[in-house]
Amino acid sequence: MIDNGKIDVLVVGGGMISREVILPTVFQEQKYGRVGNISISSLKGDIIEELQGMFPPFKGYPDPLVDGTTEKYPDMFIKAINDLPENSVVIVATPDHFHTPVIKAAIAAGKHCIVEKPLCLKVHEAHEIMKAADEKGVYVLTDYHKRYDRSIRACRYKYRKGLLGEMLHGHAWIEEPKYMALEVFKDWCEKSSPFEYIGVHYADAYYYITGLKPRRLVAFGQKKYLPTQGKDAYDAVQATIEWEDGSVQFVQTSWVNTPNNSAMTNQGMMMLGTMGEYWADHKDRNTHFATEAEGFDEYNPNFFKQYDSFDFPGEIDNVGYGYDSIVQGINDVRRIVNETDSIEGRQAMLKQMEETRALPGQALIGVAINNAVRMSADAGGRFVVFDEDMNIKFE
Ligand SMILES: NC(=O)c1ccc[n+]([C@@H]2O[C@H](COP(=O)([O-])OP(=O)(O)OC[C@H]3O[C@@H](n4cnc5c(N)ncnc54)[C@H](O)[C@@H]3O)[C@@H](O)[C@H]2O)c1
Repeated sequence: MIDNGKIDVLVVGGGMISREVILPTVFQEQKYGRVGNISISSLKGDIIEELQGMFPPFKGYPDPLVDGTTEKYPDMFIKAINDLPENSVVIVATPDHFHTPVIKAAIAAGKHCIVEKPLCLKVHEAHEIMKAADEKGVYVLTDYHKRYDRSIRACRYKYRKGLLGEMLHGHAWIEEPKYMALEVFKDWCEKSSPFEYIGVHYADAYYYITGLKPRRLVAFGQKKYLPTQGKDAYDAVQATIEWEDGSVQFVQTSWVNTPNNSAMTNQGMMMLGTMGEYWADHKDRNTHFATEAEGFDEYNPNFFKQYDSFDFPGEIDNVGYGYDSIVQGINDVRRIVNETDSIEGRQAMLKQMEETRALPGQALIGVAINNAVRMSADAGGRFVVFDEDMNIKFE
């Protein structure tokens, strides 16, 4: 039980998504009394030092005053996890290929997790996480924040009411500027790709909306620009996914777009069914600012934006689907630890939550699609098929 309704949170990461979304969210939750102590684990002390200048007090791993600022501590997250009290949450925001060791350590210590998408990069890892979480009665949510975008929720609602009929096809696009691969993700862009990093959002959206599972897919990738910049990484990746009902979704992704765009991310989706269609530009939300100070800004009020607080005059509240998605995880864990102490009780609650949340059983779909896309693109565009458990192989 948590007697004061607050839950302690450890964030493992400290990069872009931690600074822009996760930490502002958890400190806001602390301000509102739903989160207790906050700790942050990162690779080096200089990152912790920088974060100390940006956020209210927290416990840092490594501690820059004791451990210095330049040495790497790739295993210190284990100590940070073990220092947490029993009912706590670990938010995993390390690079895509380094989620699994953190999740496994958290589950082994009986700590609940919120993981940045994708849950992990390999199907067998997702199966291992699923089994371990189930055995221990541990909550592991993947942060697919697009599920909280009301535009996508609306599509699910209307599809599930039958208004779109049976799916025929869908098209989604998500593309980001060159500085993502070259600056923000320079250390790990070769281990991931624009599909694995962002495209998976729209594969998950199709699954979230329809409940359909993938049957097979084919993917292509191009390496033209990034190799000229010393990176053996994909510029762009496109996937065509055939779902179990025979409907087809095409997803195009890139992280080498020009930075001279009206917003950071080009994104949107259409879906056509036998009885209706959904069409949404998720970049152009029909709102823009043009200011002397900041130039032209295509403004998406839905994702994660700051607004004057109603409760704390003079301060700001972070609002949007980026916030809602993480708060969902924090509140689910608060609910679980308040309602039951037993593993059996937790397992029963998790089984129920699994129906509507990206717990490992649902997150497995995105992992399998990511894994298959990479396999197909690396093979120059060979079809990859899925079995019932989402194991993959070449057709
Ligand atoms: N939900 C979303 O839409 C969304 C958006 C952006 C990123 N992400 C995901 O979030 C994750 C992190 O992305 P990012 O943009 O913050 O990346 P980033 O490269 O900016 O940051 C990664 C951080 O992890 C830290 N790290 C690496 N190894 C570590 C270790 N052993 N112990 C502790 N810390 C370690 C690094 O020091 C770095 O600060 C990725 O999985 C990414 O795909 C999700």
